[in-house]
Amino acid sequence: MAGPNEPGTGRPPGFDTLAIHAGQDPDPLTGAVVPPIYQTSTFKQDGVGGLRGGFEYSRTANPTRSALEECLAALEGGTHALAFASGMAAEDCLIRTLCAPGETVIIPDDAYGGTYRLFAAVLARWGLRYVPVSLHDVAAVRRALAEHPARLVWAETPTNPLLGIADIAALAGAAHDAGARLVVDNTFASPRLQRPLPLGADVVVHSTTKYLGGHSDVVGGALVTADPGIAERAAFLRNATGGVPGPFDSWLTLRGVRTLGVRMDRHCANAARVAEMLRGHPAVAEVLYPGLPSHPGHAIAAKQMSAFGGMVSFRLRAGEDAAVAVCGRTRLFTLAESLGGVESLIEHPGRMTHASAAGSPLEVPPDLVRLSVGLEDGDDLLDDLREALRAVG
Ligand SMILES: Cc1ncc(COP(=O)(O)O)c(C=O)c1O
Repeated sequence: MAGPNEPGTGRPPGFDTLAIHAGQDPDPLTGAVVPPIYQTSTFKQDGVGGLRGGFEYSRTANPTRSALEECLAALEGGTHALAFASGMAAEDCLIRTLCAPGETVIIPDDAYGGTYRLFAAVLARWGLRYVPVSLHDVAAVRRALAEHPARLVWAETPTNPLLGIADIAALAGAAHDAGARLVVDNTFASPRLQRPLPLGADVVVHSTTKYLGGHSDVVGGALVTADPGIAERAAFLRNATGGVPGPFDSWLTLRGVRTLGVRMDRHCANAARVAEMLRGHPAVAEVLYPGLPSHPGHAIAAKQMSAFGGMVSFRLRAGEDAAVAVCGRTRLFTLAESLGGVESLIEHPGRMTHASAAGSPLEVPPDLVRLSVGLEDGDDLLDDLREALRAVG
């Protein structure tokens, strides 16, 4: 963000100011306050090679997408962001930018099922090796790096769906000491709650489908880095392979990003109430929420996050059938995959988002339920869950 939107005191702008203004100066041609949707595939050249503003073809660059990218880079404390058609497109491009066939990646033993599937069922065939390690155990990561020299440590924190916490600064130290890069999937926290780049990560990856977009109306992904070399190579691969978001999807995502701060405040407040209620409920065996002092990662989460997020998972005493039944009995919590939107969602990871991890080291417990706690009135959410839990006894 430059010029007209700076506070004018020399003090750097705060997070919410960046969310609303970074990359979003009023349109110089018309004064439009909201960045226009440049719904065009190509751009007129003023003579061969005479590009206006560097734009030639929308797979390579598009002004609406550039506005989103500038904003995301500012929010994560990076210098470069690249937007993608989905979180998976961003992950695939990043891994193939940083690794070559025959190399090894340290992956978490708890992560989004689609990320595991990408390593196990797609990139393994390309010749990439992966070693699952419990990333909350930094000594185990160091041992794994000594045993399997790796190009990359891939982290998620908090993890999907077990809400595990990894110490980003400590992982960055372990990775860099071994000559590896650290990538952090920051989808669950969003940059409002956690900024991995200043903590030492080399690249942040997002499913912008989730909290950044925030309204369950658009699928997208992004990479953010402060390393111009990584950004340049990833931009080359993205342009060569083409997994870009369209202008309207970029615009929708950017519209969501502007309210990220206030949304995350409410997500966190509602999730804390839900976690507290579930903790005292007789049908619940365990609540997984990093905001609870009993969570093994609570101290690290408190150190590296400004609040504990909107995702809560819990296990049912009565087992898998009860977990499946609860998912079918809520009224406000909609039974659906995905997360991070204004509306509350409930799902059974074992049979839904993480079915692809069945039989692997990343398999999730069958009695697990995952909640994406939305922005509805907290009392209504608590009543809805209590009713559904009463029905399963
Ligand atoms: C933590 C995490 N990373 C990445 C992804 C993949 O993103 P997308 O669905 O936008 O491709 C997801 C999707 O659920 C996710 O939860």
